Amino acid sequence: MDIAVAGGTGVVGSRIVRIAQARGHATRALSRSAGVDVRTGVGLEGALRGADAVIDVLNIETLSEKAATRFFRTATSNLLDAEGRAGVEHHIALSIVGVDRVPHGYYGAKLAQEGLVASHAVPWTILRATQFHDFAAQMHARLAFGPVHPVAHMRTQPVAVDEVAARLVDLAEGSPQGRARDLSGPQEEDLADMMRAWARRSGGRGWMPRIRVPGAFGAAMRDGSLLPGPDAERGRVTFEEWLAAQPVG
Ligand SMILES: NC(=O)c1ccc[n+]([C@@H]2O[C@H](COP(=O)([O-])OP(=O)(O)OC[C@H]3O[C@@H](n4cnc5c(N)ncnc54)[C@H](OP(=O)(O)O)[C@@H]3O)[C@@H](O)[C@H]2O)c1
Repeated sequence: MDIAVAGGTGVVGSRIVRIAQARGHATRALSRSAGVDVRTGVGLEGALRGADAVIDVLNIETLSEKAATRFFRTATSNLLDAEGRAGVEHHIALSIVGVDRVPHGYYGAKLAQEGLVASHAVPWTILRATQFHDFAAQMHARLAFGPVHPVAHMRTQPVAVDEVAARLVDLAEGSPQGRARDLSGPQEEDLADMMRAWARRSGGRGWMPRIRVPGAFGAAMRDGSLLPGPDAERGRVTFEEWLAAQPVG
């Protein structure tokens, strides 16, 4: 197969490319560093020519719902419209477990993205996955006030990014199925504990106080709305196993 990966140079995208190539597929990574800007459309048309399927793992690093929604609406519409013109027969999008129960902030933007995918003419599959194992490290980098890295009181069941990437390639190899079975890691964790454990291992610095995010968003993070349901597929790699394989800082 010929698989285009939108966001194919990112955390999950680069793994998708590697796994797809190892299975004998032709791949192309769509990213600004590869000369394709999905938000403006520059380079997009040519980049999709001949692709059988597109896996969308684009991302914007922001905690602002407004900025994230603007990005995902524009990029998703541009991508789907270009796929329609190029005759792509399957669009696979990666979303997040619980976005419909937590329609706030970044998660609200991902829900808007799902809506665009589900209402477009290009046949589609959406996979919702839980947070990746390195989510706590990402939050440490993104949210800092000097040496203070506030960490939300949040229940999560993190998953190995390689397992998410492999599942997305499985889905691209199959037929469009609408919502696929959710994918999560094997066990629940507390985000603040994850961040502190990651910092001890990697040499990450600063004070990491656990905070109660106010309002409905914060309540949903605490009440388990982002956890997988009983029907979700569970990955095998625990956060502890993942951490033990990370370089010591
Ligand atoms: N992190 C998690 O815990 C988690 C959990 C579940 C689902 N997800 C979802 O997984 C997806 C990927 O996340 P990630 O952490 O792998 O992302 P990431 O590492 O930030 O990678 C983002 C990718 O998008 C590309 N990109 C950004 N803007 C672009 C543009 N205008 N045009 C073309 N390419 C663009 C980037 O390349 P350039 O910068 O070169 O353009 C990069 O390849 C996201 O949609 C996220 O919601 C994440």
